[in-house]
Amino acid sequence: MPVKYGVIGCGAIAQRRHIPECIANPESKLVALADPVRERVDELAGKHGAKAYTDYKEMLKDPNVDAVVVAGPNSLHAQQSIDALNAGKHVLCEKPMATTRDDAKAMLEAAKKNKKFLMIGLNQRLMPAHVKAKKILQSGVLGNVLSFRTAFQHPGPEGWSVDAGKSWFFKKGQAFMGVTGDLGVHKADLLRWLLGQEFTEVTGVLSTLDKRDPEGNLIELDDNAYLVLKTAGGILGSMILSWTNYGAEENYTVLLCQNGVLSLGTDTTYGVIVDYRNGERELHKVGEMSTNTKQVGSGIIDALTHSIATNTPPSIDGVEGYKSLDVILTAMEAAKEGKMKKIG
Ligand SMILES: NC(=O)c1ccc[n+]([C@@H]2O[C@H](COP(=O)([O-])OP(=O)(O)OC[C@H]3O[C@@H](n4cnc5c(N)ncnc54)[C@H](O)[C@@H]3O)[C@@H](O)[C@H]2O)c1
Repeated sequence: MPVKYGVIGCGAIAQRRHIPECIANPESKLVALADPVRERVDELAGKHGAKAYTDYKEMLKDPNVDAVVVAGPNSLHAQQSIDALNAGKHVLCEKPMATTRDDAKAMLEAAKKNKKFLMIGLNQRLMPAHVKAKKILQSGVLGNVLSFRTAFQHPGPEGWSVDAGKSWFFKKGQAFMGVTGDLGVHKADLLRWLLGQEFTEVTGVLSTLDKRDPEGNLIELDDNAYLVLKTAGGILGSMILSWTNYGAEENYTVLLCQNGVLSLGTDTTYGVIVDYRNGERELHKVGEMSTNTKQVGSGIIDALTHSIATNTPPSIDGVEGYKSLDVILTAMEAAKEGKMKKIG
């Protein structure tokens, strides 16, 4: 029996990732789509043989829908996920899972109460370079990680969103977080997972340098951020986030370890490079990193489909989403207060 999906929010990520990945997997089927923009949802539903809804609550009444992808503006994630869980659907919610800790906790409660899976779209963990890196770190050949630097920088969401510069991404009430929430939550999650340790302290400087709303005013959200983080085991790291990298997208991580350096996404041919302390070098060709201009399979729908089909809880669940969100919310608070702040 294929897992039957409904998608709430038919924008860029739904069109470029969730819908195609749902169709590509023989074990999943796209059956319903919801978006308030009538022409958008009708066109997509017609193209893919799915039912169209302009009100997601109507879609949730459809008994044919087993699982729901929540892929609209950040401010709607929590309520729409809770409604879907209460309607007895499994949920894949896009990142950041919510805009407040209380909302994220309410999502965890709803999943527990309804005995349904809640997975979060933190797909960096599934990228081939990151999967390979995790294996290398777990093998112990590099010893302990001492510090890291990581960056995620692209030209901004106006070249990505279906509504371009008019989209929710630049509206504080709907996005709540700028680049720190958009890209930083991916990196907080990736590093928590790679290091196998929780972040305990964070500080940051957030700034709005170049992004403007349609009226020409600077947006009220950060478009650049520099964070400094510390883990429970004392690993020190820096994170650079930008929506104003008007060159090629950068998504790299360099881990300085006791026995050498592990570089991910720093080279276009070799996704993973290990430079050992004794001078030896290992080059690994792995699958490509997805970028805004070139999407490759993320594996996120496949992972939830497998979880549902085998009744195995997803590894990137709501609790993981909560912890990664907590790092980012604390970073935003730390930046405002101008100090290093404890997480959790
Ligand atoms: N995991 C990733 O790598 C990744 C990448 C891009 C975006 N995202 C996340 O996906 C989500 C959507 O981003 P996007 O890039 O597709 O944005 P987008 O602007 O391209 O599309 C948003 C869509 O949501 C729809 N929408 C607005 N209000 C709605 C409502 N009440 N109910 C249902 N739909 C509604 C809009 O009409 C639009 O079609 C965001 O949370 C974003 O952070 C995740």
